[in-house]
Amino acid sequence: MTPIYDGKAKTLFAGPHPHTVIVAFKDTATAGNAQKRATFPHKGTLCNAISCKLFELLAAHGLPSHYIRKLSDQSFLAHQVQIIPLEVVVRNRATGSITKRLGIPRGQPFQPPLLEFFYKSDPLGDPLLCESHIFALGLATQNELREIQEQALQANKTLREYFAELRIDLIDMKFEFGKTPNGQILLADEISPDTLRLWDAQTKESLDKDIFREEKGDLVTAYREVARRMGLV
Ligand code: C5P
Repeated sequence: MTPIYDGKAKTLFAGPHPHTVIVAFKDTATAGNAQKRATFPHKGTLCNAISCKLFELLAAHGLPSHYIRKLSDQSFLAHQVQIIPLEVVVRNRATGSITKRLGIPRGQPFQPPLLEFFYKSDPLGDPLLCESHIFALGLATQNELREIQEQALQANKTLREYFAELRIDLIDMKFEFGKTPNGQILLADEISPDTLRLWDAQTKESLDKDIFREEKGDLVTAYREVARRMGLV
């Protein structure tokens, strides 16, 4: 099959029905705007299993997404959407870029959760955007942005409560949204330890891609531990 899009961690193929795509996970991890790259056997399978289960969880809580169903160990079927070039970050605690940007101590809680937008642009290094930038660049209308904010916060609430039951603290996450041909805004991309920051509730150790970013352990062991607590392995 010929890919319709070849990304850093996933490849997209045309789906079996009109307006569907197959999302296939790779075993690759990248960090720091793809400056750092490595391959981890089984990572793709784990991210796919975790994403499928989390999209199903959100759907069960009334939040639809581009996800339709799991197809294989490394792929799922999705509605084709036009991705809005925004990285929508929700933070429950400070870590990562916000600690450096604003000098907020690592681990400081945000109540209510903090929502940020970044421009999805590798050449520009995904810069932070405010709402006026989004409207000036024509990336979304006011109504679309309100819809995106509501869905992102609802997804955070559902995921945070779910992970808390698994003794995992959902620290922050990045969502992407897409638009269907009839203008519906749908949560898209993936939801996995590549895009969520997850800390063990007791030890505070990372169970996510920070292990690769900061070279602090074995990525696949941590992803498998998340999958194990989710009842997937
Ligand atoms: O690096 P930063 O602290 O801004 O990341 C916030 C959240 O967004 C983290 O969960 C991180 O894994 C995720 N993220 C992502 N892809 C990016 C940038 C951030 O999934 N390109």
